[in-house]
Amino acid sequence: MIRSVIIGTGSALPARRVSNAELAETVDTTDEWIVERTGIRFRHIAGPDETTATLAADACKAALGAAGKSAQEVDLIVLATATPDQTFPASATKVQAMLGIDDCVAFDVAAVCSGFLYALQVADSMIRAGAYRCALVIGAETFSRILDWEDRTTCVLFGDGAGAVLLEAQESADSDGRGILATKLHADGRHNELLYVDGGPSTTGTVGKVRMKGREVFRHAVVNLASVMGESLAIAGLGAEQVDWVVPHQANARILDATARKLGLAPGKVVVTVDQHANTSAASVPLALDTAVRDGRIKPGQLIVLEAMGGGFTWGASVVRF
Ligand code: UT7
Repeated sequence: MIRSVIIGTGSALPARRVSNAELAETVDTTDEWIVERTGIRFRHIAGPDETTATLAADACKAALGAAGKSAQEVDLIVLATATPDQTFPASATKVQAMLGIDDCVAFDVAAVCSGFLYALQVADSMIRAGAYRCALVIGAETFSRILDWEDRTTCVLFGDGAGAVLLEAQESADSDGRGILATKLHADGRHNELLYVDGGPSTTGTVGKVRMKGREVFRHAVVNLASVMGESLAIAGLGAEQVDWVVPHQANARILDATARKLGLAPGKVVVTVDQHANTSAASVPLALDTAVRDGRIKPGQLIVLEAMGGGFTWGASVVRF
């Protein structure tokens, strides 16, 4: 059986790191409120020369370096983002050019905060179908560019960054083998008005700004995330007690705690980076994954569950033998 194995991870953050206290100089908020309600302490904000594509390319270079592969071996790039450099072409093609890859397939996937999970299943399916052998799957965002900096209910929550994984087709015999074991995705478009951007090429002709009814999103997030993690584990034929690490979308520390409790997972098994990076939308899962791989928490052979939920609503989870 062909499986998609994660053979390298990488991430990139903008140079500028902004604390809650610095934000409180221009926004009507406090460090205490942000830490207590969200767990966020810092976020990185892109400068004029940093874009979704430049951050994505840097994350890819780190993933290729970790795997010891050259960019020319890549035959597929799938980039999850809601903040592309241009409306078109796909930012994935900019990343391809920045990596110096002469020919491959490259396109973007839009599922906001769940984008990385969607991109992962797209690339995994294309690899398991035998069409591609080496794929870069990226989550990259510059949400700072679509925030309303006068709206304290949203602007304190988000940050910029990128994360990438390098997938390789490998023969794998059973569920002890490495690779993506199962993925379950969902969407429910009835909830558009709870989390959206109030602009777009086909409606206002403008980029628009992020709008969110946070409390309602929170409620849906805890229920949907616990449920989809259970579904993905059931597809893989595994139980929550076998999971070594959960690598969640980093929206709010309280969501991470509540979701882990619902699944009966110890909080010590959850990778938390929301304090350092805030919510980086599609970048948050691969960014957290790379952080935990590089600091030695996640080791080869361990069972990890990736999960995310975001605008749409969209949500999903993936079970991976790392
Ligand atoms: O990435 C996609 C998924 N997104 C999420 O999962 C986000 C989910 N939602 C959340 O994380 C939380 O709902 C928030 C962090 C957005 C908000 O936390 P909350 O505990 O639900 O607060 P709230 O919206 O109920 O607001 C409580 C109070 C309000 O004041 P009043 O009306 O009670 O007087 C807000 O005006 O907090 C006030 N408030 C603030 N105060 C200081 C809202 N934002 C701020 C702020 N600083 N930045």
